Amino acid sequence: MDFENYGLIEQPFIDVSVIDVSSKDKRVNGDLYAEKAAHGKLEALLRRIRQKQTISYVSSQSAELGSGKSALMAAAYWKLRKERHDVSPIWAQATGGISAGPTVGRVIDAIISAGHTEKLRQKVGSFTFTAVKDLLSKSYNIPSTQISGKLAEILELPETEIAQKFTNVRRSLLTYSAVDFFGYFLSLFVAAGLPRFVIFLDQFEEYVQAHTGRASLQKLGDDFRDLIQGASTKTSLVLSLHSEAEEILNGIGYVRRVAQIDQNTKITIEPLQEQDGVELAKKYLSAYRPSKYTGSEIFPFEPKVIEHITKTVDGNAGDLMKALGNAITRGLDTETDQITMEFLGEPRNYVSILGKPPPKHLS
Ligand SMILES: Nc1ncnc2c1ncn2[C@@H]1O[C@H](COP(=O)(O)OP(=O)(O)O)[C@@H](O)[C@H]1O
Ligand SMILES: [Mg+2]
Repeated sequence: MDFENYGLIEQPFIDVSVIDVSSKDKRVNGDLYAEKAAHGKLEALLRRIRQKQTISYVSSQSAELGSGKSALMAAAYWKLRKERHDVSPIWAQATGGISAGPTVGRVIDAIISAGHTEKLRQKVGSFTFTAVKDLLSKSYNIPSTQISGKLAEILELPETEIAQKFTNVRRSLLTYSAVDFFGYFLSLFVAAGLPRFVIFLDQFEEYVQAHTGRASLQKLGDDFRDLIQGASTKTSLVLSLHSEAEEILNGIGYVRRVAQIDQNTKITIEPLQEQDGVELAKKYLSAYRPSKYTGSEIFPFEPKVIEHITKTVDGNAGDLMKALGNAITRGLDTETDQITMEFLGEPRNYVSILGKPPPKHLS
């Protein structure tokens, strides 16, 4: 049997460990988002961005992968990209290392790749020291000569080299790091009147968790402070966290004072309820139907199957997606017309779909 027996053009559910908005595949880039399953969280995040809040956290109680934090952030990214022309959404992934330099480098790379430095160049002509310093004077009373000079020098380089140079700026300029440049870099765009950046820093929880031990936590604190100071008034930052990463950040005095993680700043993703699981499945299935398809929205699944799986995986979206993908593959391999509770309850099917034997009442 093939996907067409299930009214599908291909497998809608694939296992993505990390959402990549630069991909053209909508199963990977986060463009497919079941808003109904998110219960107003997307609106809440977009509201904070509209209010120009500097920082918003997207967090989950569970520290396991797959809660849907990145999915929510990506949904906001796509909404801004499609509907709002007064902001420029930027997507970057934090690195797991203890230095913030490479992460800031990735943000800068994402800004360059999206063509924003080129737009800036068209506005200012060339990045001479004077041009850069004049722009910076709109945000800073006394812009650092060293940073302005280096900024001008780096921006004049070919686009392919800029991000790399910022990441490693400490080598040539011992007193400053990439994070110090972050605010200055952002200021240029604001001063030139370009649209405000909304920076989605995904997998930030992993970056936070990479810090253990006093020295490294101290560095996390310093870098975090510089990051927020750099972003403040110029951009909106959206950072992903989870309960364990929150605990680490909360140990930093600066976070408690300036970037508090509380009910206002934090959008908490809840585990999926059974009905949410069905909504999520619908979203993906309907994106892979042939144009003439008129059958049920959740065919080949029986609703109970999706509800049961959602409950079994404790409402984890990533695990649900994986199990639904397994179910389709198993159904096709065994020439099964429809994925019913009876099919799911068969022990070999259950193991291949959920990775463990079925509970007694099913088999
Ligand atoms: N509301 C939703 N609509 C559509 N897909 C979702 C939704 N929530 C989560 N997903 C999908 O579930 C998977 C895991 O979610 P993800 O955002 O990567 O989790 P986290 O970032 O919390 O580890 C991803 O493939 C994601 O696209
Ligand atoms: Mg994630």
